Amino acid sequence: MPYRTIIEPFRIHSVQGIAFPTEQEREAALVRAGHNLFGLHADEVIIDLLTDSGTGSMSAEQWAAMMVGDESYAGSRSFYRFADKVTGLTGLPEVIPVHQGRAAEWILFSVIAGPGSVVPNNTHFDTTRANVEYQGAEARDMVIPEGRDPAVDHPFKGNMDLGVLEQTIAEVGADRIPLVMVTVTNNSGGGQPVSLENLRGIREICDRHSLPFFMDAARFAENAWFIKLREPGQGDRTTREIATAMFSLVDGVSFSAKKDAIANIGGFLAMRDPDLAARCRNLLILTEGFPTYGGLAGRDLEAIAVGLDEVLDEGYLRYRIRSTEYLGEKCREGGVPIVWPPGGHAIYIDAKAMLPHIPPSQYPAQSLAVELYRDGGVRGVEIGSVMFGVPNDDGTETPAAMELVRLAVPRRTYTQSHIDYVAEVILAVAARSKDLGGYRITEQAPWLRHFTARFEPV
Ligand SMILES: Cc1ncc(COP(=O)(O)O)c(C=O)c1O
Repeated sequence: MPYRTIIEPFRIHSVQGIAFPTEQEREAALVRAGHNLFGLHADEVIIDLLTDSGTGSMSAEQWAAMMVGDESYAGSRSFYRFADKVTGLTGLPEVIPVHQGRAAEWILFSVIAGPGSVVPNNTHFDTTRANVEYQGAEARDMVIPEGRDPAVDHPFKGNMDLGVLEQTIAEVGADRIPLVMVTVTNNSGGGQPVSLENLRGIREICDRHSLPFFMDAARFAENAWFIKLREPGQGDRTTREIATAMFSLVDGVSFSAKKDAIANIGGFLAMRDPDLAARCRNLLILTEGFPTYGGLAGRDLEAIAVGLDEVLDEGYLRYRIRSTEYLGEKCREGGVPIVWPPGGHAIYIDAKAMLPHIPPSQYPAQSLAVELYRDGGVRGVEIGSVMFGVPNDDGTETPAAMELVRLAVPRRTYTQSHIDYVAEVILAVAARSKDLGGYRITEQAPWLRHFTARFEPV
C-alpha cells in the first residue's frame, strides 16, 4: 500500500477500560510497591508494557475454539488437536504440554543438567538462567559482540558467537554440556533475531560433538519474519516455510505459548528423542499433570492450537513488527538511545547511555523504569543489573553487560494512539534525565530477585 499509517489488522469487538491514576496515586503506589513495578496493581497503570507474555488479545476464532475444549483427564480430543498442530509445525514428534514456559525449562533442566554441567545459550532468559542454575549447572551466554552493544546496527544481533561456542566445548568438554540452546528472538538481548545461517552453524557444531540442540522458541514467528525481511535469499519464502526450516535444525524446543501462540497461558516441550521425552513426562506427572493436559485445561490447548496458525499470518506479522519499529523510530528521532535496530516484541532503552551519571551499582535502568511510570503511568521492566547483576563475596556486585528498560508490546492489544502516548512520555522523561537519581535494594530474594525486591532512592 502507498500509505505509511500502520493499520491494526483487526476490528475491536470487546474492550477493557484503562484506569487513569493521578500523579499522587502513582507516587503512593510506588512507595507501597517499594519502587518495584511488579508490585503495582494493574489498575494503577495506564499503558502496561511490562511484558508481551500472556497479555495479548485472543481472536474470535480462539475464543470459539475454547468452547469445544475437551476436559477429559486422559486422552482429551483437545490434546490431540494441540499435539498434531505442534508436530505439524515443528516436525517434533514428542509433545509435552506445560502450564507455561518456565515449567518446560524446569522439567528439561531437572532431567538433563546438574552440578558441573554447562549450558550455552545466545542469552539465557531470566527464568531459563534461574532454572539452569537451580540445578547447580552453569548458564553461559555467548551472543555475538554486536549483540552486547546497543548502538551497533546488525541484522541478526541475536546470533550466537560460534567461535565462543567452539571454545567452550573445547574448554569444558562435550560430556559436561547436556545441550546447546538458542533463544529466538533473543529476549534478554534486545528481542533481536537469530539468522538461519547461524542456526545452521550451531547445528553443524552440535553434530560434530554429538550434542543435542534445543531452541527456546517463544517468539519463533517474529524471528522467522525477521529472517524473511533481512536474510539474503529468504525473502521469497513464506514465514511458515522459514519457521519449518528453523525447527528442522533442532532436536527439541521449550516454548512459552504466552508469546507466539497468542494465548494467555500455556507452553510445551517438544523433542525428537522418545527416551528423553519419557523422562520429562515422569516429572510432568509429578508437577504439572497427566501428559495429555500438563497443567492446562483442554480449552487452553485449543486456544494455543489456533494461535500457532494465526501468528504466522504475514499481515499480522507485518503489523506486529512494524508497530514496535514505529515506537523505536520515535525514540530515535527524539534522541533517546535504544537498542538498535528495534526488537520484535519490544524496544529497549539504553539507560547506561541515557543516565551516565548513575553508576550500574545504583541501577540506572530501574531508575528510568520508575520514572516512566511516575511521569506517565507507563510500566516497563528493568533488564540490567537488578535482573542479571552477580553478587560477589565482598558484598559488591558484578553488573550486567547492559542496563536496559524493556517496553514490551502486547499482541493485538494497544493501538497507535497508545503507542504515540508512550513515545511522548519517554521523550518527556528523557528531556529531564539529568534530574534522575539512583536506587538501592532494601530487600531481595535469592532467586529471580527482580520480581519481589524492594528499592529506595539513594
Ligand atoms: C525467551 C523466553 N523464554 C522463556 C520464558 C518463560 O516463559 P513463561 O513466562 O511462560 O514461564 C519467557 C517469558 O517471558 C521468554 O521470553
